[in-house]
Amino acid sequence: MKNKKDKDYILQVRNLNKSFHDVKVLKNINLDFKKGQTTTIIGPSGSGKSTLIRCLNRLETADSGEINFAGQNILDKRYNPNFAQKHISMVFQQFNLFANKSVLDNCVIGPEKVLGIDKQTARQRALLNLEKVGMKAFAGKLPYSLSGGQKQRVAIARALSMKPQAILFDEPTSALDPQMVAEVLDIIIKLAQEGLSMIIVTHEMRFARDVSTDLIFLQDGEVVEQGNPKKILSKPKTSKLTKFLQKTHL
Ligand SMILES: Nc1ncnc2c1ncn2[C@@H]1O[C@H](COP(=O)(O)OP(=O)(O)OP(=O)(O)O)[C@@H](O)[C@H]1O
Ligand SMILES: [Mg+2]
Repeated sequence: MKNKKDKDYILQVRNLNKSFHDVKVLKNINLDFKKGQTTTIIGPSGSGKSTLIRCLNRLETADSGEINFAGQNILDKRYNPNFAQKHISMVFQQFNLFANKSVLDNCVIGPEKVLGIDKQTARQRALLNLEKVGMKAFAGKLPYSLSGGQKQRVAIARALSMKPQAILFDEPTSALDPQMVAEVLDIIIKLAQEGLSMIIVTHEMRFARDVSTDLIFLQDGEVVEQGNPKKILSKPKTSKLTKFLQKTHL
């Protein structure tokens, strides 16, 4: 799998398969995710989008194939699954903040416990990231007192505090009221401009078209189309994507 261009990619997926019971959810997926770029994944409900990105940092274990990250196949039996989770963060639709911990502690706990960073450094780093997402003033608050948009911004600060090589987002704005979508997308756009490697499952088609550098259309566990978002969305090659886009607002 090694080739001269390996360094250009943050993750490379080869012949990836995943079933739940007897249902094949990912069917021989092959993908290259570029370093420093924003890739969006779109597709109908149940097409395998969440399963795919959960496999990328070993929250889910694929049945066969390869996922190449930082020069190693993370599906190799000898590989420690925690390594991928240490270096690839995830932001979830439902925020998944620790309900009994303050905003600041939500951002400190990972670096402290998983990366072994001393508390003081972890706090400083967390505060910088909270500032970046406009949530520093809320550092002492508990998650229940925040709006959805604020919770998601904290979740992004928490992800950033791990200094990850990539962040995976699973529908980061789908649980938000419309007026809060922009405040979260604006942060993601800022991160994209800074050149963070990101892979984002989203239904925000305008974001996919205007912000992402690569687009993947998944259906029934298969990559149906992939490439430049503007090209793909303006001229789908397959009837599957054409039909999907007819049901989607751009
Ligand atoms: N833990 C699980 N156990 C059994 N089946 C699962 C599990 N997780 C997902 N599935 C099934 O795998 C298929 C793909 O699910 P997945 O959540 O990856 O789709 P998705 O594209 O993210 O959908 P959505 O847009 O609704 O989030 C679905 O048929 C789903 O029911
Ligand atoms: Mg999903």
